[in-house]
Amino acid sequence: MNIDNIEEEIRRLKKEKNAVLLVHNYQRPEVQDIADLLGDSLGLSKKAAETDADMIIFCGVRFMAETAKILSPEKKTLQPRKEAGCPMANMVTAEDVRRLKTEYPDARVVSYVNTNADVKAESDVCCTSANAIEVVKNIEAERVIFVPDRNLGSYVQKFVNKEMILWDGYCYVHENITKEDVLKAKEKFPDALVLVHPECNPPVIDEADEVLSTGGMVNFAKKSDKRRFLIGTEEGIMYRLKKENPKKEFYPAGKPRVCWDMKLTTIYDVYLALEEERFSIELSKEIMISARKALNAMLKYT
Ligand code: 13P
Ligand code: SF4
Repeated sequence: MNIDNIEEEIRRLKKEKNAVLLVHNYQRPEVQDIADLLGDSLGLSKKAAETDADMIIFCGVRFMAETAKILSPEKKTLQPRKEAGCPMANMVTAEDVRRLKTEYPDARVVSYVNTNADVKAESDVCCTSANAIEVVKNIEAERVIFVPDRNLGSYVQKFVNKEMILWDGYCYVHENITKEDVLKAKEKFPDALVLVHPECNPPVIDEADEVLSTGGMVNFAKKSDKRRFLIGTEEGIMYRLKKENPKKEFYPAGKPRVCWDMKLTTIYDVYLALEEERFSIELSKEIMISARKALNAMLKYT
């Protein structure tokens, strides 16, 4: 089967099964090209909650497909590569959160969506990189336990007058982007605007003109009248930025950084997922009910 045939087959199967294809901005170009919705964690969660499709095919990592399942429990939700996970999500466990709650009984728990479902189930509210500041600002507590990303947490801390108890997790992809990388890139393109993801470490964030989710970067680049941009996030988004803004220039802030889990899913995996209805996300009812409360509480802020 060649690529044109695969695309055609995917379109046919999607129609036959009334399936929707949700794709994260870091996915491979050929997978981005067949998306029904291409977006960031927040946009994709909203779509998962609203869709009237019978089946969701989620091209991203495990926590994203789990989020879709939790928000649309009656729908068959498939992840074409079941081993695609987020290493940062695995840095905090439900047991860790229970311990923190005992240690800080007056605190509320905000968990980044980059967490496993059982961690969400222990949380009061979830957030994404697009709404984290709003969520923490609005939660009714003076003390907030924030898991697992220490970088996103310390970025949010700058905007809220609350005590934040930060977990020590991080994303290795963003952690690998250094301040030196950004400074060198700025030297090469002094007129470029620097857009970075809040999962970057604080010295990198200090060098940025804008700190944005991946969806925020896409919107910002489209609206901006600037021509050149340095992008501090996973390299997959460059394809979308260039495709949607052919007259603008985008360069990685330093070496291109790759999330290997995000790159596992190929177009052939998407075809197999549809054809064989694999791999289904299954979660316990109890975990789904509690995690859904935390996710729905987040969707109020969007
Ligand atoms: P966004 O929600 O900004 O797309 O980020 C998801 C993610 O995994 C970043 O590493
Ligand atoms: Fe997780 Fe980082 Fe990959 Fe995003 S880029 S999925 S946070 S490891």
